[in-house]
Amino acid sequence: MTVVTEIPLSPRVKRIKPSPSMVARMRAQELKAQGHDIIDLTVGEPDFDTPAHIQAAATAAMAAGETRYTPVNGTPRLRKAIAAKLARENGVTYGLDQITVGTGAKQVLFNALAATLGEGDEVIVPAPFWVSYPDMVLACDGTPVIVACGENSGFKLTAEALEQAITPKTRWLILNTPSNPTGAFYSATEMKALTDVLMRHPHVALMTDDIYEHIRFDGGEPVSPVAIEPRLAGRTLLVNGVSKTYAMTGFRIGYGAGPKPLIGAINVIQSQTTSGAASMSMAAAAAALEGDQSFVAEARTAYRARRDRAVELLNGIDGITCQTPDGAFYVYPSVAGLIGRKRADGRELKTDFDVALFFLEEAGVAVLDGAAYGLSPYLRLSIATSLSDIEEACTRLKRASQALN
Ligand SMILES: Cc1ncc(COP(=O)(O)O)c(C=O)c1O
Repeated sequence: MTVVTEIPLSPRVKRIKPSPSMVARMRAQELKAQGHDIIDLTVGEPDFDTPAHIQAAATAAMAAGETRYTPVNGTPRLRKAIAAKLARENGVTYGLDQITVGTGAKQVLFNALAATLGEGDEVIVPAPFWVSYPDMVLACDGTPVIVACGENSGFKLTAEALEQAITPKTRWLILNTPSNPTGAFYSATEMKALTDVLMRHPHVALMTDDIYEHIRFDGGEPVSPVAIEPRLAGRTLLVNGVSKTYAMTGFRIGYGAGPKPLIGAINVIQSQTTSGAASMSMAAAAAALEGDQSFVAEARTAYRARRDRAVELLNGIDGITCQTPDGAFYVYPSVAGLIGRKRADGRELKTDFDVALFFLEEAGVAVLDGAAYGLSPYLRLSIATSLSDIEEACTRLKRASQALN
């Protein structure tokens, strides 16, 4: 009889890797726990408390007995609040049966890919990208087609690059605006150029991840591709959530709006995996969307001040150059000028990973390498932390860089 000593893993799980930001965060926390003085700039979540009225809504829901299984596609109240939000802020109309609620935007994105991709189907992912997109595509048997979008295009996908990347096997284009990690935001004109390309390729669907839509520094209105090109509504999935806008990452509520057959398929997958999202979280998310929005503007003002300071300080470091991001709460400086320099022990910084490791070990600042986001040599620094931590971190980065040979 064969004795099984190890449970074999699936080809699916072997294709994918853990989220680099979660790995880096765990590493920073381990070092902190060992007593090292670490400033952690890897974090992808607001550092503010969830506004009190949103917390109160969760508590009230529990007290009112909302502690049971929920509808797979989300409570009617939350879906109504989402439909109203989409009409009010994005200028798009969706019925309640065209909206689904998941355990974070992450689950909605994953479910949509799981519901639509087959072996060899291609998904266009502009780089730099949020680390999870390519791995989600791989986990769902698809093939990510990474299109490098460099600094000269503002880290944005151009119509020409999109046109070139489309093949008969392309199923989706994933657009994240404002972007994690660069903060790049597609203006209405830029979005129209992309939707024009999609109009010429009816087999390609569009998934937009709008999770940072309210963290934008130019004061402009949100830009929804469906408002710009209504004929794309039948093949567009809008994905959004409350995590970043309302400092609700732990509530785990995200949502998708799109054509009924796709939403139905997403619901089937969700019904066989996690079922409906948490009852008290959905009550809190509804309160967030329906209630006082002043937190959103206050948080944006704070992020803006931090962004300005971080960009100024980073550009003062020899070897680093940093564009000013339009949105989100990250900066994505180039470290091209540090590549090739040597650490005191003679080790050469060959990649942005080496630079990130050097800053962690020598400056006590945890950042992520651009390679994880698909475009090197860059670093991603989160500015969802206090101004004083940002200033101290940049001071340490400068000091450490000056010690390089
Ligand atoms: C671009 C992007 N999309 C989605 C998510 C996940 O959001 P949620 O908390 O709603 O799952 C993140 C979180 O870091 C993100 O940066």
